[in-house]
Amino acid sequence: MSTTSGDERMVVRQLPRKGAHVVLDAVSKRYRLGEQVITALEDVALSVAAGSIVAITGPSGSGKSTLLHVVGAMDAPDSGRIEVDDVVVTSLDRKRQVDYRRRIGFVFQRFHLLPTLTALDNVAAPLLPYRTGFDKFDRARRTLAAVGLGGREESLPSRLSGGQQQRVAIARALVNDPMLLLADEPTGNLDSATAVELMELLLELRRQRGMTIIVATHDPLIASRCDSVVRLLDGRVLDEVAVTAGVEPEALLQRITRMEP
Ligand SMILES: Nc1ncnc2c1ncn2[C@@H]1O[C@H](COP(=O)(O)OP(=O)(O)O)[C@@H](O)[C@H]1O
Ligand SMILES: [Mg+2]
Repeated sequence: MSTTSGDERMVVRQLPRKGAHVVLDAVSKRYRLGEQVITALEDVALSVAAGSIVAITGPSGSGKSTLLHVVGAMDAPDSGRIEVDDVVVTSLDRKRQVDYRRRIGFVFQRFHLLPTLTALDNVAAPLLPYRTGFDKFDRARRTLAAVGLGGREESLPSRLSGGQQQRVAIARALVNDPMLLLADEPTGNLDSATAVELMELLLELRRQRGMTIIVATHDPLIASRCDSVVRLLDGRVLDEVAVTAGVEPEALLQRITRMEP
């Protein structure tokens, strides 16, 4: 019935997980700089279905990174509630926060690889502090292969292209088999052809693994490949546009690049 090898079937068995359902309710976040108060998020309500891939768009300063940080418990909102599956992120104590973060993958614009470690060691790094029921380097090797970098295990980041470095960073984010992947401008440092390839890779990984993905991007071409596009402006959600197969890409691009309400 299937042509997959025993080896591949094992990978699939190791990695079946439905993505997390993410819900934000009335989430607000302000930064105080002396007398000045900056509203980064204002009364944000959002629901991201399990296993979907959603783009957060909006101009610089509209709150995209802040939104990812509060969902990933890297920062706490001033008010509101965030739930990721069974986890109420906004009321975790420190220990549970650490456990929660281990179930989330994070990808950044500037890759943030450790320059003195090989690609394989970068990918294995998040597993090293923990006892696991599987071989850590075997898992890291398989995850590198899943992002198309089989054979580059021993390369240092400086020997890899920008697109390859971001693939290593994606493998590192996925090595713990997260229920949710948060990507902050993941293609911001890549040329447009490489950016589209990277987006195709994220879509393929989502198809294989089923995790939920939230991508902050101001690139409408990247956003238009997601399942839906949430537009932020001054910390508020303007609207959410479903990306449907029938819609002309030009019309969608026009809609999501037009930032006035
Ligand atoms: N650590 C911080 N201290 C003060 N202001 C911040 C901080 N982080 C973000 N901001 C401000 O919050 C707003 C939203 O920022 P951010 O979430 O980074 O937006 P985006 O990712 O869309 O560019 C901006 O006005 C930004 O200057
Ligand atoms: Mg940002």
